[in-house]
Amino acid sequence: LNKNSNNILNCKLKYIHFDNYEIDAWYKSPYPSQYNNNSIIFICPHCLTYFNSSFTLNQHLTKCSFKTQPAGREIYRDSKENISVFEIDGRKNVIFCQNLCLLAKLFLNSKTLYYDVEPFMFYVLYDFSSLTSFKFVGYFSKEKLNSTGYNLSCIMTLPIYQRRGFGNFLIDFSYLLSKREFKLGTPEKPLSDLGLLSYRNYWKLSVIREIYKLLFKTDDKLKFNKVITNVKDSQLKEINISIDDLSNLTGMCHNDVIFALEQLHSLITYKYDDKKINKFALIFNPTLVKQLYTTWVKKTSVKLNNDYLIWKPII
Ligand code: ACO
Ligand code: ZN
Repeated sequence: LNKNSNNILNCKLKYIHFDNYEIDAWYKSPYPSQYNNNSIIFICPHCLTYFNSSFTLNQHLTKCSFKTQPAGREIYRDSKENISVFEIDGRKNVIFCQNLCLLAKLFLNSKTLYYDVEPFMFYVLYDFSSLTSFKFVGYFSKEKLNSTGYNLSCIMTLPIYQRRGFGNFLIDFSYLLSKREFKLGTPEKPLSDLGLLSYRNYWKLSVIREIYKLLFKTDDKLKFNKVITNVKDSQLKEINISIDDLSNLTGMCHNDVIFALEQLHSLITYKYDDKKINKFALIFNPTLVKQLYTTWVKKTSVKLNNDYLIWKPII
C-alpha cells in the first residue's frame, strides 16, 4: 500500500458504488495510486474491499467470506431490528480496518488515520435484514490504551443510512462501553459539524432519559433515594441530583453533562446564606422532560438495548 499523502491530492474519486447505490464522496481519501484516475470505485458492502469495476466486484462477491462472517467478534445482536455490532481489533484485522478508514475518510474532513490502525478497536454496525448477509452501516473507532478519557475516536454512518438514528445508536453504544469499564468518556476533538450536531443532540437526550427515570419511574426514585419537592411554580420541580450523579448514570464526562444542562436551561445559580454565596441548582420542567422523552421513544429509529451487549473490557 502506498502511504504517500499525495494520493489524496491526485485522487479523482467522485462516487462509490456500494450495494446498488452510487454515493457521492464528500472529501478525498488516499486510496492507492492505481485508483487515482477512477471517478468511481466499487466497494464490497461486507468486507469493504475496493475494486475497479463492477465485474471484479461481482467476482469477489461470489466468494466474500465476510458476507456471512464479518471480522472480529459479534458483541451485540438485536434480532428484531436485524442489526449487529462486531468488535474488530485493528492489530488482528489490519486490511479490513484500513479499508474501513479509507471509506470513512470519504465522509470526514479532518481525521487522518488510514493505515496506522493497530492501536484501535473498531465497533462496526451491520444490517442483516437480508438474513443471508451482513452489510456495513457505520462504525466508530476507539483507542485501546488511552489516558485522555476519549471513548470514541472517529464515527461515521454511511450517507445512505444517515438521519435514521444509527449515529445516535453508535454514540449510545460508546457510552455503554464506558459504563461497563466504570469510566467516564467523551469523543476525541475536534468534532466535525455533523459530529457536533449529533453529540449535542445525544448529550441532551441522555440527560433527559435519566431525569425522566427519576421523575416518573418509582423504582429509580427509590434506588437513588432522591428527594423531589414542589416549588412555588407548580410547573417546576426540583430534583436533588448532582452533576457527578448524572456523569455516572450516563457515562458522560462532567463538561458534557454541564453542556447538556445548559442546553436544557436546567443549570441555574441562586443566592444562599443571606444572599452572600452563589450556589448552583438543577431545575427541570417535568412537562418538558416528558415531552422530550416521549418524542424520542416514539421515534421509529433503532434504540440500544443494554441487555444485548455481551462484552467485558480489555484488561
Ligand atoms: N443536519 C442536522 N442535524 C443532524 C444532521 C444533519 N445533517 N445529522 C445529524 N443531526 C443531528 C440531529 O439532531 C439528529 O437527530 P434527528 O434526526 O432526530 O433530528 C442527530 O444528530 C442524530 O442523528 P442520527 O440519525 O442518529 O445520526 P447519523 O446516523 O446521521 O450519523 C454522523 C451522524 C455519524 C455524525 C454522520 O452524520 C456522519 O457519518 N457524518 C460524516 C462523518 C462525521 O462527520 N463524523 C463525526 C466526526 S467527529 C468524530 O468522529 C469524533
Ligand atoms: Zn467482500
